[in-house]
Amino acid sequence: MSREFTKVGVVGLGTMGAGIVEVFARNAIDVLAVEVDERALERGKGFLTASLDRAVSRGKMAQDDADTLRGHVTFTTDLADCADCQLVVEAVPEHLDLKKRILSTLDGIVGSDAILATNTSSLPVTEIAVATADPKRVVGMHFFNPAPVLQFVEVIKTVITADDVFEDIKALAERLGKKPVVVGDRAGFIANALLFGYLNHAVSMFESKYATREDLDAAMRFGCGYPMGPLALLDLIGLDTAYEILDTMYKQGRDRLHAPSPIIKQMVSAGLTGRKSGHGFYTYAGPSSSQVV
Ligand code: 3HC
Repeated sequence: MSREFTKVGVVGLGTMGAGIVEVFARNAIDVLAVEVDERALERGKGFLTASLDRAVSRGKMAQDDADTLRGHVTFTTDLADCADCQLVVEAVPEHLDLKKRILSTLDGIVGSDAILATNTSSLPVTEIAVATADPKRVVGMHFFNPAPVLQFVEVIKTVITADDVFEDIKALAERLGKKPVVVGDRAGFIANALLFGYLNHAVSMFESKYATREDLDAAMRFGCGYPMGPLALLDLIGLDTAYEILDTMYKQGRDRLHAPSPIIKQMVSAGLTGRKSGHGFYTYAGPSSSQVV
């Protein structure tokens, strides 16, 4: 019999984690939103509030519905509160050791039937899984940014993931209104494996002053009909996240396409991480704002 998901945990409330919290809450699933300390928790709350306020101000959501949605979310800094969650999704930064540590800790907290999922963009799910005592219940559940908007989830099945685990996650993704695809454990899965070479190429064209940021973005928006140009998209993804993804993919595949353009690392070091900091290839009205100034 398939699992009922009535309470789930999301660990890590950055851009992706906060979006994933919203996705579950929008579907009337109780969510435990976990961060490492009070400061990070406040930042995560801010992401959720900003997203709901935008939906209300655009007339897409009634204030009552936003309040109901918020009522499904409980914030905590204690992983142990995940004990009664049927699923926990980790969405912490792309560092293998950190993800391994969090999943192995959760393994000792949640019930024996619970599923542990990683939202990793490019790290090996198998390695994260084998850090736990029960790797059969570990699966990749990879959302796309902005998670409340984009209707796609990659379900990553390792050689050891139990069939009922990935089937239940696939069914859950459908319940969340997403199109799930099941994919094997290889760097970048499907979408990032195709996307990041293109994004990196755009950065190297910008870095070599081949074209301006506006012209690069205009080419792909107006010439190819993409919703955003590559540099604006990198600002949305976050340059720190993009760097980690490219670096992992490059180390795994040694494809020059994925060797991170040097300017990405320099911008990360300088704090120019994109929308989340208010500065990236473009400058924004405020942290997490989409408005270019
Ligand atoms: N959070 C929540 N909702 C958001 C949002 C956000 N950050 N940004 C935009 N939205 C919502 C808006 O409220 C609006 O909702 P509505 O239609 O109900 O009013 C809707 O999205 C459309 O927004 P806008 O009208 O402001 O702007 P656009 O029509 O230009 O859409 C976009 C914005 C959805 C971001 C669109 O430009 C887009 O799809 N861009 C491409 C994004 C993409 O490629 N993402 C994948 C990145 S790769 C990834 O995530 C993998 C990971 O591993 C890194």
